[in-house]
Amino acid sequence: MNKNVNYGNWVPEKMLALCYVAAAVLGIAACVTGPVLHLTLPAWILGILAVICLVYGIYMHICHELFAFGKGNMMAKVHQHLVDHLEWDGEGTLLDIGCGAAALTIRCAKAFPKTKLVGMDYWGAEWNYAKEQCEANAKAEGVADRITFHKGDAAHLEDPDETFDATVSNFVFHEVRSAKDKRDVVREALRIVKKGGAFSFQDMFSQKSLYGDMEEFVEELKKEGITEIHYIGNLEKKLDFIPGYAAAPWMISGMGILYGRKLSFHSLKFPPKSNRFLQICFILKKFHLLRHFNCKIHISVCS
Ligand SMILES: C[S@@+](CC[C@H](N)C(=O)[O-])C[C@H]1O[C@@H](n2cnc3c(N)ncnc32)[C@H](O)[C@@H]1O
Repeated sequence: MNKNVNYGNWVPEKMLALCYVAAAVLGIAACVTGPVLHLTLPAWILGILAVICLVYGIYMHICHELFAFGKGNMMAKVHQHLVDHLEWDGEGTLLDIGCGAAALTIRCAKAFPKTKLVGMDYWGAEWNYAKEQCEANAKAEGVADRITFHKGDAAHLEDPDETFDATVSNFVFHEVRSAKDKRDVVREALRIVKKGGAFSFQDMFSQKSLYGDMEEFVEELKKEGITEIHYIGNLEKKLDFIPGYAAAPWMISGMGILYGRKLSFHSLKFPPKSNRFLQICFILKKFHLLRHFNCKIHISVCS
């Protein structure tokens, strides 16, 4: 890994520091309350709280090392999983929504050498990420001439409809406070994808409290536009690079990927050697034109 980049970590160092400081303060308080002040019960309570903070801090520290670029590399592997599902030839422009420290944006820049990229983020106080950090990372990785960064809100993107040929986003939508319904953030991300463009989004899609029934949502999105969408849920149980201890409810739980392409007639690629009849079936199926007639086409060449 390039030593001049700083991609941060999904377990921020300030959280580790907080756990260890809390453990130390509670431990000292327990020592003073028990042996010095002879208050047995409060001393036990403070001691137990100190141990909980210490154990939690150690757990978070282990996850931090697992996630870290150049160490456990799990963040890089999660990003690569998203890029592997972006069905795109790299021609045109790409937007990374909630780019953080630009690790995913830069991965996309390397995967698609002809692409012009934009990284946007709110860069609020919760995360230790900044626009200047993104620019420095892009420069250190030699891709600064193809990427621009700007501040914005994922719930209200400043771009007109159908601006980008590809859009990606990783673990952002669930954090967008300005949108009550996280499904609206997904719709906003899809709004700016051009017809024929591709998208790949990873988030806590399998957490029902955030997104409800995803299969139902996918069907809704299909009806709302000419969009080809695939969904894979509960990825933390399916990806072999995510160990069980990192799949805890307070860590990576309910991870899913939503990917596909916004279709247009122009972007359709017919199956090889298909005749006119099969091409018509292909169009009907791709654009979900038979849904109102309770009719399904089962032709293997169309799938
Ligand atoms: C878990 S981090 C993920 C960062 C990056 N996508 C990655 O994969 O490393 C969540 C990111 O979402 C950003 N974010 C939160 N709310 C946002 C909003 N309303 N608009 C844009 N970005 C937002 C945060 O600033 C943070 O960078």
